[in-house]
Amino acid sequence: MSAITASPSTPMMESVSRAITASPSTPMTESFSRAITASPSTPMTESFSWALRVHDLNYTYPDGTVALEHVSFEIKKGESVALVGPNGAGKSTLLLHLNGVLHSSGSRGAIEVLGETVDPKKVHEMPDKIGIVFQNPDDMLFMPMLADDVAFGPINLGIKRDEVERRVRDSLEMVGLSGYEERVPHHLSGGEKKRAALATVLSMEPLILALDEPTTNLDPKSRSELIDILKRLKDEGRTLLIVTHDVNAIPELADRVIVLNRTVVADGTTREVFSDTEMLLAAGLEVPVIMQFFLVLQAFGYPCDVLPLSIEGAVRNLTRTIANGDGHVHLHIHKHTHSEVDSALGKYQHHREAGR
Ligand SMILES: Nc1ncnc2c1ncn2[C@@H]1O[C@H](COP(=O)(O)OP(=O)(O)OP(=O)(O)O)[C@@H](O)[C@H]1O
Ligand SMILES: [Mg+2]
Repeated sequence: MSAITASPSTPMMESVSRAITASPSTPMTESFSRAITASPSTPMTESFSWALRVHDLNYTYPDGTVALEHVSFEIKKGESVALVGPNGAGKSTLLLHLNGVLHSSGSRGAIEVLGETVDPKKVHEMPDKIGIVFQNPDDMLFMPMLADDVAFGPINLGIKRDEVERRVRDSLEMVGLSGYEERVPHHLSGGEKKRAALATVLSMEPLILALDEPTTNLDPKSRSELIDILKRLKDEGRTLLIVTHDVNAIPELADRVIVLNRTVVADGTTREVFSDTEMLLAAGLEVPVIMQFFLVLQAFGYPCDVLPLSIEGAVRNLTRTIANGDGHVHLHIHKHTHSEVDSALGKYQHHREAGR
């Protein structure tokens, strides 16, 4: 493909590869070996069923801002996990640790990716294991043409030209940017940049994908296409870690939710985490709007023990109720209905106020 002009000799590539490979030796690797080997309950052989293991990760920025404290969690191969938390909770900081980019003297703790300790000196070996889509696409797009940006990773992995061209074509097609090969990445719209940034990671075909706010800035069609892409990757068996404030997308994408607020404050199935109203409020989070709507329906007498998390769940729930109730859903207004509706809405009051 003529649009691919990237070669490892371009000054831009040199500076980037310098940036990612020139990490100073840090005590991180040592501390990880200590942390992992010191745990008799988790023999190393077992670790290969894990895609990611984070053990007691702490990180303080050079200005003294404590971003992560005692963060520990494990993600199995093929799992799809949503990482949620309020602004400033440390989500992006955590993601930047997963491929070693942010390892420094400010880090303590241990990270293992696909059974291997993350070694800041081997950051350049990480891209086909774990691909990270940063929150800000401008941090990922720096070549003169989009095809060069998408080809950059595979070329650095030493992949042959024909295969690089195939990957560029497929990745751009996947994110709906076929025909954009020669466009200047810097000139793309916000949503286009977001999709372009994803393509630069898809082209490396990583086994694990960590995405920071992938649906932000996308129009509804692009958002739903992106959700489909992520579902497809999940079905292919890739491991996904998706940082998001888009709670309505989570039930479709993730089986499990981790809530981070500098440390892990909750970790469970999507339903378990969304059912813990107190914890969600304390962390400044919300639940899918369909769940809130069914709380309101409950106040009108709709029989619903298990609140649906998604539209599909709602349809299943309604179908079941109608089938059991002779073809009708009966709603009632009692004296107390309005106060119950107020109470249902009040559960997430701070969000409605914030959104006004
Ligand atoms: N380069 C930096 N220097 C100093 N502090 C930083 C730096 N980057 C982030 N921080 C601080 O670290 C904390 C965690 O930031 P981080 O970007 O990881 O949060 P986040 O959970 O991704 O938030 P958001 O939802 O807004 O993206 C915040 O208090 C932030 O101000
Ligand atoms: Mg962030």
